[in-house]
Amino acid sequence: MKQHASEVGEVGDSKESPALLAPVGTVLRSRSNQSGCGDVERDACSMSQANPFHIPEIKPSEFAQFQKLIFDIAGIHLPEIKKSLLVGRLSKRLKHLGFCRFSEYYNYVINKAHADELQIFVDLLTTNETFFFREPQHFDFLRKRAVSHGGSTFRIWSAASSSGEEAYSMAMVLADTLGNRSWEVIGTDISTRVLEKARYGHYPVDRIEGIPPILLKRYCLKGLGEHSGTLLVARELRERVRFLHSNLMSPRKDLGLFDVIFLRNVMIYFDNDTKRKVISGLMPYLKKDGHFVVGHSESLLGLTNALKPVQPTIYCRNFC
Ligand SMILES: C[S@@+](CC[C@H](N)C(=O)[O-])C[C@H]1O[C@@H](n2cnc3c(N)ncnc32)[C@H](O)[C@@H]1O
Repeated sequence: MKQHASEVGEVGDSKESPALLAPVGTVLRSRSNQSGCGDVERDACSMSQANPFHIPEIKPSEFAQFQKLIFDIAGIHLPEIKKSLLVGRLSKRLKHLGFCRFSEYYNYVINKAHADELQIFVDLLTTNETFFFREPQHFDFLRKRAVSHGGSTFRIWSAASSSGEEAYSMAMVLADTLGNRSWEVIGTDISTRVLEKARYGHYPVDRIEGIPPILLKRYCLKGLGEHSGTLLVARELRERVRFLHSNLMSPRKDLGLFDVIFLRNVMIYFDNDTKRKVISGLMPYLKKDGHFVVGHSESLLGLTNALKPVQPTIYCRNFC
């Protein structure tokens, strides 16, 4: 291990340094000759391939197909005003695969022979914005809740963890509060791309803003040399946080019971029926005296009778 060069440690040790992430998906051969396009379309297609900035048009029927697909898989509701977002996110992928029409890409995605593409499609259409200690009051609550916990392993679930900042923020609080007492943090997400990032625990240094200085010093390593401008979550935390692939529409069965579930900033993408379905699907994972935390722009009002509010955006089971 190299000498630490500053109050936060150094990233650059071969044991600590994660490899760079691979780009999403693999390069496939151009399909322009196989697409069955007519002449006009073939012209549009060659124009699209020649001009890297050309964005193909999407027909209403094509948009509707993608809307239904992402809703059926992830429960994500993409309203009409999100059409340009969908086009922006998928068009690079179309170009990469050599397709000139959205319908060709749709047929490719739903073809069972290309099962991996469905995951890439989900990765492209999920919005993964997150940061450390987002909505800091929730972490103050977590600290108090951890202190008052006695006995069994204190188990926390970041149920839409994105790239891991939320789960590592939880872990810093628990390590600081409970030390070597038994605790566990699980992060899950539907996007495998962000889960891969989460497992590395390696972030651009501009992500650290919200981390309280004392926790930053204790649990983060600062990159030097070729790693300058980055931050690595300390190994002792990375080893205690597990990231697993799970869809909120049908959560995996092997997660066990939790004292606190964070379900933050994901229900904004769901309609009310989906929110109800997701919340009731998570109740079997919450201990009888467990707490459930949602984002500050979210509310459970009118969505469930199984939880009661204890303070804004924090709920507990009816038994607590
Ligand atoms: C905006 S991020 C929120 C991250 C974090 N909870 C926070 O508050 O900062 C929403 C995350 O929810 C995930 N997501 C969306 N639909 C999902 C589903 N059906 N199952 C699991 N995760 C889902 C997305 O992949 C994305 O990473």
